[in-house]
Amino acid sequence: MLDCYSELIEEKLKEVLTLKGAEYDILLEAMNYSASAGGKRIRPKLLIEFMRVSGGNPEYALNFAVALEMIHTYSLIHDDLPCMDNDDMRRGKPSCHKAFGESTALLAGDALLTESFSLAAKSDNIPTDRIVRALAQLSDLAGVNGMIGGQVIDLKYENDKAPLEVVLELYRLKTGALLKAAATIGCILAGADDVKIEKAGIIAEKIGLAFQIRDDILDIIGDEKTLGKPIGSDSESNKSTYVSIVGIEQAQADVENLTNEAIELLADFDNSDNLISFAKSMVLRQN
Ligand code: IPE
Ligand code: IPE
Ligand code: MG
Ligand code: MG
Ligand code: MG
Repeated sequence: MLDCYSELIEEKLKEVLTLKGAEYDILLEAMNYSASAGGKRIRPKLLIEFMRVSGGNPEYALNFAVALEMIHTYSLIHDDLPCMDNDDMRRGKPSCHKAFGESTALLAGDALLTESFSLAAKSDNIPTDRIVRALAQLSDLAGVNGMIGGQVIDLKYENDKAPLEVVLELYRLKTGALLKAAATIGCILAGADDVKIEKAGIIAEKIGLAFQIRDDILDIIGDEKTLGKPIGSDSESNKSTYVSIVGIEQAQADVENLTNEAIELLADFDNSDNLISFAKSMVLRQN
């Protein structure tokens, strides 16, 4: 889905992460290693498509789209570390810390995060006020009140049963926030009005919640080879997940309900057929 943007995204990622023949090249190797191969690129694709349906030129959103994928990749590198989920496989390969050691993996994550803002700030052909607003949105949603906050709640409730409302809040943050960044930044860069931006955010939060619940389901019923990461990780770490509270059947029904709610709201966007197909394809995704 939205594969028309794949080549643009891959080329830009390669360009940003080119080795420099420097003493620190091992860092770029580790960043490249985790960024390349196997990622579905749903966040950058969503960002670019929201730019398009909001009337912007998709190519002008590329720096922000790739910046968001870099932030997502850093979150995965850190998420797999022994002090967090302690997972040995990611995107079909040994996790970054397995291939490069913990210190280089930690720094590769740090560097992906830092470089992402440099890339986004250098967006051509976008008015400066929109770039500034989009940068603030990106840092807010990746930070304390976004993805990182969600990761903290996730770890806080390891070995301790979280109530459903806490699980919903932690999913809204750890996974929903970066999807919200994708949708809203696409709109901001295109110059959409605040009502549209807010609506895009609500749609993305619903898709994000459905996406994370499906991720939990796949952690139980998925195929490791297709997924590219270990299954059973959540129960091994005693995570409180949506599935562990409501059961797989109810969880899958809620994935479908949330996706349908998102699709209904997408009707307010012109030319949203691709986004609707994309949302539908997430319901039964296998990876
Ligand atoms: C994995 O995200 C982490 C979650 C938020 C569930 P993705 O499933 O998008 O991972 P990649 O980028 O395709 O590897
Ligand atoms: C994803 O949660 C959260 C982030 C990486 C921000 P998970 O820990 O469930 O993701 P996977 O299953 O390891 O991809
Ligand atoms: Mg995790
Ligand atoms: Mg994990
Ligand atoms: Mg998971």
